[in-house]
Amino acid sequence: MSEPLFKAEAVHKSFRDPKSGASLEALGGLSLEIQEGEFVSVIGPSGSGKTTLLYLMAGFLKPDSGRLLYKGAEVDGPSPERTVIFQDYGLFPWKTAAGNVEFPLKARGLSPSARRAGARKYLSMVHLDGFEDKYPHQLSGGMKQRVGIARALACGPDAVLMDEPFAALDNITREMLQEEILRLWSGLGKTFVLITHHLDEAIFMSRRIIVMSARPGVVKESIAVDLPEPRTAEVKTHPAFTALKARLMKSLREEVEKSLAASRGPALVLDMGVIKVAEKEAL
Ligand SMILES: Nc1ncnc2c1ncn2[C@@H]1O[C@H](COP(=O)(O)OP(=O)(O)OP(=O)(O)O)[C@@H](O)[C@H]1O
Ligand SMILES: [Mg+2]
Repeated sequence: MSEPLFKAEAVHKSFRDPKSGASLEALGGLSLEIQEGEFVSVIGPSGSGKTTLLYLMAGFLKPDSGRLLYKGAEVDGPSPERTVIFQDYGLFPWKTAAGNVEFPLKARGLSPSARRAGARKYLSMVHLDGFEDKYPHQLSGGMKQRVGIARALACGPDAVLMDEPFAALDNITREMLQEEILRLWSGLGKTFVLITHHLDEAIFMSRRIIVMSARPGVVKESIAVDLPEPRTAEVKTHPAFTALKARLMKSLREEVEKSLAASRGPALVLDMGVIKVAEKEAL
């Protein structure tokens, strides 16, 4: 097999509380490989280090020990090659939709006219033709995330890293954006990594699912998703979908129970295949 796009080798990452000085181990020697062109989801209990892993891949953080390799070289800071789509969209409120998408194009050195054309192209890819001049506050949550996706694509990335990108959206918008992301993935041939708390979303979208252990996070298992292609809504009623969901639910439940046993704060529960935070007293 060719060299993986991402390779984590025994990555440890801890955070220190500036007040108490106490150290909290987020990742406990995590190893994984992600191949070029894959669509991989990462699921795991809340606090298991999923965002930490994504930020290491993006270059926002560095491992304390171990190595995080991208194309065989250690990740050394952020790069437009590895772009992140955030849950809260992360748009510039003072820029229009086109202005937000033009921003990375400017960083790539494109002329003003090429930037304008590029912004139109990427906004059109996410069906936002005609909304180029709207400001974020004039757009719905789903439209804001479409701008976020267009801006990520405008970076010209090899890898698109998504941290619960649909969490703030209603179910119908979420499902539409899932399908659009899949369409973009199959059209562009780039590598997509998705962190999600929704098992249905992980199964529907990915070709492989990485299950994280309870904190300190390591890869508990990596499961290939063997479902009919292309993925349409019917896939969700396929027996293999239901069987995989049950398997993932069981695997996650074991980890959530470990988190629960170790935690003195809010507890984690699995509700209809979605990990939620709840007060322990309520359980
Ligand atoms: N910058 C930080 N400073 C201190 N602690 C941090 C920091 N970032 C993460 N942590 C801690 O590291 C652990 C892992 O956090 P992380 O955000 O990676 O978890 P997660 O799996 O993404 O959780 P969630 O599903 O709730 O988003 C948590 O206990 C968190 O409190
Ligand atoms: Mg997170």
